[in-house]
Amino acid sequence: MKVQELTVALADRSYPIRIGAGLLSDPAPLRRAIGGRQVLLLSNTTVAPLYAAKVEAALAGLRCSTLLLPDGERHKSIESASLIWQALAELGAQRNATLIALGGGVIGDMGGFAAACWMRGIDFVQIPTTLLAMVDSSVGGKTGVNLAQGKNLVGAFWQPRLVLADIATLRTLPEREFRAGMAEVVKYGALGDAEFLAWMETNAPGLRQRDEDLVAEAVLRSCQHKAAIVARDERESGERALLNFGHTYGHALETIGQYQTLLHGEAIAIGMVMAARLSARLGWADAADAERLRQLLESLGLPTARPAEASPQRMVELMRLDKKSLSDRLRLILWRGVGRAEIADGVDAAEIEACLAEHPCARSAAKP
Ligand code: NAD
Ligand code: GLY
Repeated sequence: MKVQELTVALADRSYPIRIGAGLLSDPAPLRRAIGGRQVLLLSNTTVAPLYAAKVEAALAGLRCSTLLLPDGERHKSIESASLIWQALAELGAQRNATLIALGGGVIGDMGGFAAACWMRGIDFVQIPTTLLAMVDSSVGGKTGVNLAQGKNLVGAFWQPRLVLADIATLRTLPEREFRAGMAEVVKYGALGDAEFLAWMETNAPGLRQRDEDLVAEAVLRSCQHKAAIVARDERESGERALLNFGHTYGHALETIGQYQTLLHGEAIAIGMVMAARLSARLGWADAADAERLRQLLESLGLPTARPAEASPQRMVELMRLDKKSLSDRLRLILWRGVGRAEIADGVDAAEIEACLAEHPCARSAAKP
């Protein structure tokens, strides 16, 4: 497979994303991204036994230490960030040190945040090992940790120096995590690229089988979309908000399931269909487009029905909270049909609730 490279073009911190199978065996691009001699490799207890040795081998000759955190979203905390800063202190990390985050979005978000804060910002490299992290969290510089009061409440925009997406690492990713990552891939087609969505429809069986050429193509096209949006709107003052298509619904679903029943991508899959159906109800788009999106997501093994425990009333209550709005009108990302997402201001909460009441209902939320 040919290695693909694209650039996230920013005024003062442009960086490459490399995509291919077996990238971890090529030390040169990683070495080029490291300015000083001190490196902290951050990973977790699931990913490190699989891939840390390859990264460590690429760092031979540098002053390097490895910190492994426990696996799981609940460890994306300020306490874990504090452990990272302690490890940097023990390494004697100076301003030219580099932090490498090897893992999924949890490790990437936390590593980026710790790097943003250490001595007011050191270099960091993202080596994403989940599909979600390859197509979304490793690109664009949103970093952070969770508080008891909510997800990602403390964070910083801090761009990496390099993103290395080694498609071969997905071979060990559990099936359910892989499918959840596909929801974010579908999101790029749904919000901005009808041709990409049609390509996914044609290739859904191969994508589901994890054909590596198809997966690499999907990662490349997703990263091209995200890189272009981030280049135009790094700090989310406008267009970047479109990347939240399905997310206001998805966050409500995740909260109702107490982050136990649905993976993030699964909640986003359901949320995107909810947003598409509301768009049709409001006369923005064709109901056939919402149906097309539903069919694609289901063909990729993703849920699309409203879990029984997610009552329309509770959903709307949580969506208001997500938007920090007590008014009867909400700002959502809707669409004018496949590939044409837009910010919709002042959507009537009663319409949202009525549309949810008509959404096909599952007996219970997805279980692992
Ligand atoms: P995750 O990091 O928890 O990884 C999912 C699971 O897969 C974990 O158990 C992990 O250890 C395991 N794993 C990772 N790579 C593996 C591999 N190659 N083989 C076997 N197991 C592997 O979850 P995620 O879905 O990657 O990321 C979710 C996080 O990303 C959330 O915290 C979310 O807030 C964040 N996120 C951030 C952004 C952003 O723009 N920064 C965007 C989307 C999501
Ligand atoms: N995941 C949404 C964003 O990066 O803006």
